[in-house]
Amino acid sequence: MADRLKNRIAVVTGAANGIGQGVARLFREEGATVIGVDRSDTDEACDLTDEAQTQALFARIGAAHGRIDVLVNAAAFAVFAWLEDLSYADWKTTLTGELDIVYLATRAAWPWLKQGGTSSVINFASANARHALEGSPALAHCAGKGGVLAMTRQLAMEGAPHGIRANTIAPGFIKTAATARHLAADPDFERQVLAKNMLKRLGEPEDIAWAACWLASEEARYVTGADIAIDAGATAW
Ligand SMILES: NC(=O)c1ccc[n+]([C@@H]2O[C@H](COP(=O)([O-])OP(=O)(O)OC[C@H]3O[C@@H](n4cnc5c(N)ncnc54)[C@H](O)[C@@H]3O)[C@@H](O)[C@H]2O)c1
Repeated sequence: MADRLKNRIAVVTGAANGIGQGVARLFREEGATVIGVDRSDTDEACDLTDEAQTQALFARIGAAHGRIDVLVNAAAFAVFAWLEDLSYADWKTTLTGELDIVYLATRAAWPWLKQGGTSSVINFASANARHALEGSPALAHCAGKGGVLAMTRQLAMEGAPHGIRANTIAPGFIKTAATARHLAADPDFERQVLAKNMLKRLGEPEDIAWAACWLASEEARYVTGADIAIDAGATAW
């Protein structure tokens, strides 16, 4: 199969790294026209926490393509620190980098997603939206991802009359530049992650990209408001 997303116009944020990069690559292999967005090093450079830049970006993409069929909101930024070390500024930066970033892009894309007729929004929650992982100073990240999970159910309800489906993927630990820093910071962290994983390996961006491909395709036409755990079983026990 190499055409599951043929003729689909897909915007993938966070496409310069990690999961977004893996999703953009697979979507292209599956025949989609992909517009990758990031701060730099991809098709479109944009600070997605800047309202004016984000509005202008999606107006430009919409005008060029006439519609958006798939929006993958993989761009995110979070500060990890234990409660007593987490400044209020870092708390707010994390909520902006995990929540506002999804709200701003989705709102700007919405008129073009409506044009798609059978559109799909794919957001990223996290295993951290449901459980606390020992050894992970993830307080603000847990709040942000819990917010994305709840927000996406609402988007599913608001989007349904317009043919827009909205779902979250909840990754467990996936190897990216961002998570490599967590592994480097704490020599025991990998052991703690693997202790929770039923499948005893760390995840790759491609493990997530296959699920995103399915959610973006018509194979998932009856799926909305769902949260798909891709976490090696970490949250299943
Ligand atoms: N990697 C994991 O283990 C994991 C686990 C659970 C959830 N997630 C979620 O999956 C998504 C992707 O994660 P990742 O690990 O690939 O992240 P990453 O840090 O590797 O990549 C995120 C990308 O977003 C971009 N970005 C950040 N702020 C931006 C902004 N204001 N404007 C434009 N681009 C911006 C960064 O430049 C980067 O390229 C995120 O929502 C993350 O929270 C990841």
